[in-house]
This record gives sequence, C-alpha cells and structure tokens, in this order.
Amino acid sequence: MKMRHALSSALLSASFATAQLPDGAAISLSHGTAANSSRVTITDPGNHVWTLQSSPNLDDWTDVQSYKVHNGRLDTTVAHASSTTQLFYRTIYSAALQGTITSTTASALVLPATPYDYDNPALPPAFAVNPIAGQDNMPAGNVTTDAGAKLGRILFYDKRLSLNQTVSCSSCHQQANGFSDPDRFSRGFEGGRTDRNSMGLSNARWYQRESFFWDERSATLEIQVLQPIQNPVEMGMTLPALEARLGAEPFYTDLFNQVFGSPAVTSDRIARALAQFVRSIISVSSRYDAARAANFAIGAGWSNQEEQGRQLFNAPGSCSACHGTDNFVPGPNIFNNGLEFPYVDLGRGGVTGNAADNGKFKVGSLRNIALTAPYMHDGRFATLEQVVDFYSNQVVDNPNLSPPLRLPPQQGGGVRRPNFTAQQRAALVAFMRSLTDPSLATDPKYSDPFNYGN
Ligand code: HEC
Ligand code: HEC
Repeated sequence: MKMRHALSSALLSASFATAQLPDGAAISLSHGTAANSSRVTITDPGNHVWTLQSSPNLDDWTDVQSYKVHNGRLDTTVAHASSTTQLFYRTIYSAALQGTITSTTASALVLPATPYDYDNPALPPAFAVNPIAGQDNMPAGNVTTDAGAKLGRILFYDKRLSLNQTVSCSSCHQQANGFSDPDRFSRGFEGGRTDRNSMGLSNARWYQRESFFWDERSATLEIQVLQPIQNPVEMGMTLPALEARLGAEPFYTDLFNQVFGSPAVTSDRIARALAQFVRSIISVSSRYDAARAANFAIGAGWSNQEEQGRQLFNAPGSCSACHGTDNFVPGPNIFNNGLEFPYVDLGRGGVTGNAADNGKFKVGSLRNIALTAPYMHDGRFATLEQVVDFYSNQVVDNPNLSPPLRLPPQQGGGVRRPNFTAQQRAALVAFMRSLTDPSLATDPKYSDPFNYGN
C-alpha cells in the first residue's frame, strides 16, 4: 500500500512529509499546547480521510485515530497515549481509507441547536415604509425562510462550488470586509483575477432597480448567484457537475429535503437558497442607526464631526442625490460619477449597447463602506479619503456625467467641484465610518459553518 505521511513525536518537533500527497494537499504535525498532544494541520481540497498512527520504533504502526477533512482544511489537536517510551506519530493518507468515514450534518458542520433567525430580522421603522419598503427585491416566489437561508449559508462557504474545490463565494465576499474582498481584483479558482472589484453584500435586498453586478447584467439575485459558479475565472463549474457533486453529499440531500420537500439537488434550488442567504445579510446596527433613532442628538453616540459629515452628505445636489435612503442606494436611476473619460470599462453601456449608458455603474449600499475598501468598480481608490478627494475636485467631465455632479446650466453646466476643506473631508469620512456595523462583521449566523476541527 502506498503511504503518504508526516511524522512527529513527543521528542521530535519537526514534521516532514514523504511521497506524493493527493492533489493540492499539505500536512503538518507539530506539538500541541497540551502535553502528549499533536497539532495536526491538513490542507486538502479533495476532503480525504486521513489516519494518525503511532509507533515506538518507526517499524510497526498502530492506528490512533482517523478523521475526514471538511471543506479543504483540518486543524485539530489529537491527544496521544501517554507512554513512558518514546512514541512517534505520523498522519497518513492511503487510498484504502477512503470511504471509511462519510460526512454528516453533525460531523461536517457546526450548527446551533436552535436555528438562527433569518426570516424575521428586526428592522428600523424607516424600512417598513416607502421608499425603502418599495425597494425590497425579495420575490414572492422565493421568500426567505430560516431553513433556506441556513442552506444558503452552507453553500456560500462551500469550496466545492468551484471546479478544483479551492474557492467559495466567501473567498471573494469576506464577512470581516463587509462581504467584499480587500484585494483590488479577486483571485479565482485557478489564480486568475476578476476584471472588477468584488462588491459588498450588506443590504443587497434593497435596491429599486433590483439588478445585480456593477453593470446590472443580472436581472434578479436568483439569476446572479449562479453566474460566479459558471464564470471561467471565478469558480469554473458547470451546473450539471455541481448538481451531481452536491447530490452525492448526504448532508445536502437531507438539507434540500428539509427546505424544498424532496432531496433533489438542482441548480434552481441552489440559486434560491443562495439568494435567500445573501438577502438575509442585513446591517442595521451601526452608530448611524443608533444616532438616527435618537434624532442625531450630539453626544457619546454621535459627534459634531459625524453630524457635520451627515449634513454635507445630505446637502441638496450632494452625495445623497445618488446614495439615498437609510441604505444609501440610488432610487430609479443608474449613474455615471465621472471616474474616467474615455471609458475604459463601459459599465451598463456594455450590456445595453446604448452609448448613453457608457460609464454608468450600479452602486450598492454604502453600509459598512469602511470595511469594503478598495472602492469603485475597478477598486481604484484605496481609502475613503481618496474617494472624497475625487468628488472634491477630480470628477472627469464626460457626455454621460449624471446631473447631480454638474452645475446647473445657469452656472455654466460644468463639473461641480465642491473643493472640500480638510475639515469637511474629515467630516464626510467620519460620517461614512458611522455606517459600519461591527456585529455584521462577526455575527456567527453569517459565518463559515464548516467543521475544521478543534
Ligand atoms: C473569484 C471571486 C468571486 C467569487 C468566487 C464570487 N464572487 Fe460575487 N462578485 C465578485 C465580483 C468581482 C463581483 C462584481 C463583478 C461585476 O460586477 O462584474 C461580484 C458581485 C457579486 C454580487 C452582486 C452584488 C450587487 O449588489 O450587485 C453578488 C450578489 C455576489 N457577487 C454574490 C456571490 C455569490 C453568491 C457567490 C458564490 C456562488 C459569489 N459571489 C462568488 C467576485 C466573486
Ligand atoms: C451622480 C451620482 C453620485 C453622486 C452625487 C455621488 N456618488 Fe458616489 N458613487 C456613484 C456611483 C455611480 C458609484 C460607483 C461608480 C463606479 O464604481 O464606477 C459611486 C461610488 C461611491 C463610493 C464607492 C462605493 C464602492 O462600493 O466602492 C463611495 C464611497 C461614494 N460613491 C461616496 C460618495 C460621496 C461621499 C459622495 C458625495 C461627496 C458621492 N459618492 C456622490 C454615484 C454618485
């Protein structure tokens, strides 16, 4: 039998691997923090079964424990038999072991005893009335349920959605970063880069034009969520291959049965569950929300500077003309904010073929914007200060520049250049930082549910 292993012992701190491991796999064994324990770390996109063995003399090996890797990584502490004689340990991979452990909901996932609440979020009063209520893109045919969003959460973090099982949605939409990517262009399953900056997903549920992506090329979220899976740079899968792969996983057939009433894993159901999870990513617990509920009274929860920023943001013809409502999203229009001319990326115009749409881009909610750097469809600005400097005096005139960024005709119709003072610039940035919701960035109901060990 061909063994592939790493070796360590209570006396040897080094670990080493011999022979060839399964594709993409790497193992390391080091001393655990407790006496008589090893820290076993295995990277294995193939999610194989591995066995820890011990030996007093490197000749006769005894199985100590087997474990299955879930979602590409195992990082666990394994207790050793206490022994007065020296014992060596190794972690081995062998083809014969495969299939000896199957994954179950209980072994592969870390789920709460009481399911998380996704379908009944506590929303501020402004969300219950227009304009926000009218901007809700949840379709009657795919209303969010706790079970559906839970399944969507698992899919969102599952690397098996990509061809070589190395990239999940969460690779490019990271919770700590407002479900965006700190990289200017995201890395796909084979290391290739996306041609636009990843988009934050906070409050994506409220967008009047509904459509998704910077160029709004997907009419609904249910259509959108299947695109990255099939994108040749991002995840590289086909939907039939994904259905077959997930359909062979026992816990998925269980979960699909719970959500949809039968175990069939179909791309339509994958799309519904993913869309439910994305719509459940709701952020309403920022300093801004607390201050709004207190009518922006100045105090510990709301500074003079934040209030000055809010007033600048909401001044007529200013930022709120395009970043409106408590979700800071456009209403019925899509805008050109004068990033460049000639247009390097046609944006909406590349989809409609209409020259009047060139350089127009969707802009999602500014909630958690301080977490989602870099900024704009091409990630050209690293900081919010750079964004404010851009609007201050760098907006580029172009045939499609949207009216709020232009002076009225009686003032010549040129580009509006507010030339913010240093104090105004700082105030605008402080206001945008007040939209950060620390709970969203860490809330376990949006976090990775896979079991990577202890
Ligand atoms: C390799 C990186 C990558 C992966 C993987 C990825 N995305 Fe994205 N996502 C992006 C980028 C980049 C954009 C913007 C692309 C564009 O507009 O052309 C985007 C846009 C989106 C949007 C649009 C948001 C809006 O407001 O319009 C949603 C929703 C989204 N992704 C969800 C997902 C889901 C769900 C998955 C997993 C099935 C996923 N993404 C996988 C990089 C990625
Ligand atoms: C004419 C409409 C319009 C006005 C006015 C406007 N913006 Fe924007 N904003 C946009 C558009 C469109 C984008 C996306 C452009 C792109 O990526 O190509 C955007 C992007 C942004 C982004 C980056 C979003 C992200 O996810 O990367 C920030 C931050 C921002 N604007 C802040 C402001 C501030 C602050 C003001 C006021 C000083 C302002 N905007 C005024 C239309 C506008």
